[in-house]
Amino acid sequence: MNSKKSRSRVLAGNWKMNMSPGEAIAYFADLSHHLGPQGASDPDVLRVIFPVAYCLGQHVQEAAAQAHIQLGAQNVHWEEKGAFTGELSCVGLKHVGIQWVLIGHSERRQYFGETNETAQRRLSTALSQGMNVIFCIGETLAQREAGKTEEVLAEQLVGFLQCLKTAMPHQPMQTISLAYEPVWAIGTGKTATTSQAQEAHAFIRKEISKVLGEQVASTLPLLYGGSVTPENARELLNLPDVDGVLVGGASLKPEGFAKILKST
Ligand code: PGA
Repeated sequence: MNSKKSRSRVLAGNWKMNMSPGEAIAYFADLSHHLGPQGASDPDVLRVIFPVAYCLGQHVQEAAAQAHIQLGAQNVHWEEKGAFTGELSCVGLKHVGIQWVLIGHSERRQYFGETNETAQRRLSTALSQGMNVIFCIGETLAQREAGKTEEVLAEQLVGFLQCLKTAMPHQPMQTISLAYEPVWAIGTGKTATTSQAQEAHAFIRKEISKVLGEQVASTLPLLYGGSVTPENARELLNLPDVDGVLVGGASLKPEGFAKILKST
C-alpha cells in the first residue's frame, strides 16, 4: 500500500549560514504570530528548522518550541569526539537537546568535499545514536541533461539503504526521511515541475522497496527541496509521493514559512 496517510509529513527549513541567535529568537516570535491560534501542528506533522550551529542553544530552542518547531544541526561527524576541528558530534548535540540532523546536503557535497561515503558514515552514526535524520540526495543539471538522473539517485541511495538495512533490526526506526533536492533547483528559483518531482520521488520509493521491502518504502517520508515557496508548497505537497518539503531561502521569512507550514 502506498498511501500518504501511512507516513509522517515533515516540514523543514534550512537556514544555511544565516541568522544570529537574537534574530532567530525574534523570528520564532514572529512565526508564532503568523501561525496564529492554531499554531500547534497535528502530531503527524513534524516541523524542524536547521539553523547555523551557534543558534542551537537553549534560548533559541525555547523560542522555537513556542512555534512548535524543533531544531536540528546542518551536519554531524561520525566520531563521538576527537581531533576533528570544526565538526559536531551526535553525543554533543544530544547533550544540548538537539535530536535532528541534516546529512549529505548538496552544498556540503559541492563545497566541503562530502561524498556518498562520508555521508553514509555520518548517517550510520546518527542512526546508531537514535538521532532523527533528513538525508539529502539529488542530481546536478549536467547529470539531468545527460539523462543520468536515475543512475545518480540510485548511486546516492546505496549508502542510505545499506545504513537503514543494518540499523533496522536492532534499533527503533526513529524519524528518518529522505530529501530529494535537484541541485539545479536549489537557490535558483527554478523549482522542479510537479511531474519531475513526482517522477523522481516515485523512482526513489521503488528503489527503497527493492532493498527494504514495500512496507518500509510505503512508510518512509520523502521530502522535496529546491526553491520551495509559499506559492508552490501546496501543489508539491499534494503530489502522491511527496510527504514534506525542505525549504532554504523561503524559510528565512517567518510570514512565508508560516504559510508553508499551513500548506499540509
Ligand atoms: P532553496 O534551498 O529552498 O533556497 O532552494 C533548499 C535547500 O538547500 O535545502
